[in-house]
Amino acid sequence: MDDNFTNAYVLHRGSTNWRPQYHFTAPSAWINDPNGLIYFQGWYHLFYQHNPKSCEWGPMHWGHAVSRDMLHWKDMPIALEPDQPYDTHPEGGCFSGCAVEKDGILHLIYTATVKRNGKTVQTQCLALSEDGIHFRKYEGNPIISAPPTEIEEDFRDPKVFQVNGKWYMVVGGSVGGADYGGDGRIVMYESDDLYHWEYRGVILASGGRLGSMFECPDMFPLRDKWILTCSPMNHPEYNKAMYCVGTMDFENCRYQIEYLGNLDFGFDYYAPQSFLDAESNRVLIAWQNEWLWMPWSRGWGPTGKENWLGTLSIPRTASLGDDGRLKLFPISQIKTLKVQETVEKEILIDSKGYDIRVQNPRCFYLKLRFQAEKMPSRYLQIGLLGKGERVCVLHLDLVGMVMTLDRDKADDYQSGRMNCIYRPQGKETELEIYVDHSSVELYVDHGVCCMAANIYSDEDQTGCWIRTPYKEAVLDTLEYGSMKSVWE
Ligand code: FRU
Repeated sequence: MDDNFTNAYVLHRGSTNWRPQYHFTAPSAWINDPNGLIYFQGWYHLFYQHNPKSCEWGPMHWGHAVSRDMLHWKDMPIALEPDQPYDTHPEGGCFSGCAVEKDGILHLIYTATVKRNGKTVQTQCLALSEDGIHFRKYEGNPIISAPPTEIEEDFRDPKVFQVNGKWYMVVGGSVGGADYGGDGRIVMYESDDLYHWEYRGVILASGGRLGSMFECPDMFPLRDKWILTCSPMNHPEYNKAMYCVGTMDFENCRYQIEYLGNLDFGFDYYAPQSFLDAESNRVLIAWQNEWLWMPWSRGWGPTGKENWLGTLSIPRTASLGDDGRLKLFPISQIKTLKVQETVEKEILIDSKGYDIRVQNPRCFYLKLRFQAEKMPSRYLQIGLLGKGERVCVLHLDLVGMVMTLDRDKADDYQSGRMNCIYRPQGKETELEIYVDHSSVELYVDHGVCCMAANIYSDEDQTGCWIRTPYKEAVLDTLEYGSMKSVWE
């Protein structure tokens, strides 16, 4: 595959009111989890859960796109579609999974889902490709035909990785059932060849504390630790993308947790998957939405009117801080999309507010640096996508170090506030904000805290401001500019 391959599949994403211009969306119709992320033969491959016929979830296909930089994508033909007795059902299909390269061949490992006698049947299956474009399902599928004994219907989302020449697979499961108050599990399998798998055991159990089902598990090394991530269903505090820092004893299949955290504190960040980029950085991409069983949802939002639904987050590089916690920050390539318009220093902010006028007021970035200690004001507020009272507000409590994302008045479709304690890393705090039509992403101090959310504002909501409720604040620097579209 070279850069000149047929343009037939390169579809642009017209600039409508809500369609993001530098976040990935499908050419049309429904999308959820990113799948099969891999750097293969010089290209980044992104597959994704896709119902090509509708803007609602339905029979799951694997959509496919490729990129040289993880930002500019070329659409490829659908990679997997439900066409086998084990994966064809209106409420099933080719569910989430991963990709690995073995002997120069791209292997996709996914969950085939069907219903039989009213019961969901999920098995783990394999598909192969030499060229990264055409895929054939392995005739011996499924490669794992039944869950371990204690797990019943919910048994999905395999993620495969290699350690010391052996292949390992983590799979999400539930004891008792995801929708029936069950208890989440991540189980592990081992293989020498990707075809024959031996069950090793449970590496994470909710124990009544962490949710009824662990969807889309992932496991990867950072420094001398193993990071385990998943998206719990019915987590008591609605943690949508959980991570554990810990150590893994592969021989005895025991994972020991040292820290439990949250990958993102916003509303919309689910089912992240990780992979290694060309420079061996660990990168995560997530579905920037969430399921309706979460409490703040009021439907899927309105973008079906524009014939697309579902956004993927900006790819984020993961690193482990000296404090033993994970940081997630946009990949460095994001710089190539920034068109800097202003950098100002020593800006005084008061309750009258400071208006920011970006050339493209619905597709821009904003970067602030400040020292909380120097501020007379305890609070700082940033308005995004605003028009009068209709606005998405970010509140910073500089003493309590709490950041609140408030979308109560931002649009007609959603409501709620999300909080995070943001732990500044030094005297000066840096806040980076990315707005992309219907997407907002916030990062404190290079990713010690992240928040992602969808905002379905009206076209004339173009205001952006910074203010204090009373007293004054000083910003060391304020930088902003428009973001280039990756589809032009
Ligand atoms: C997570 C998820 C997965 C499943 C897929 C189906 O968002 O529910 O567990 O494989 O979506 O589309």
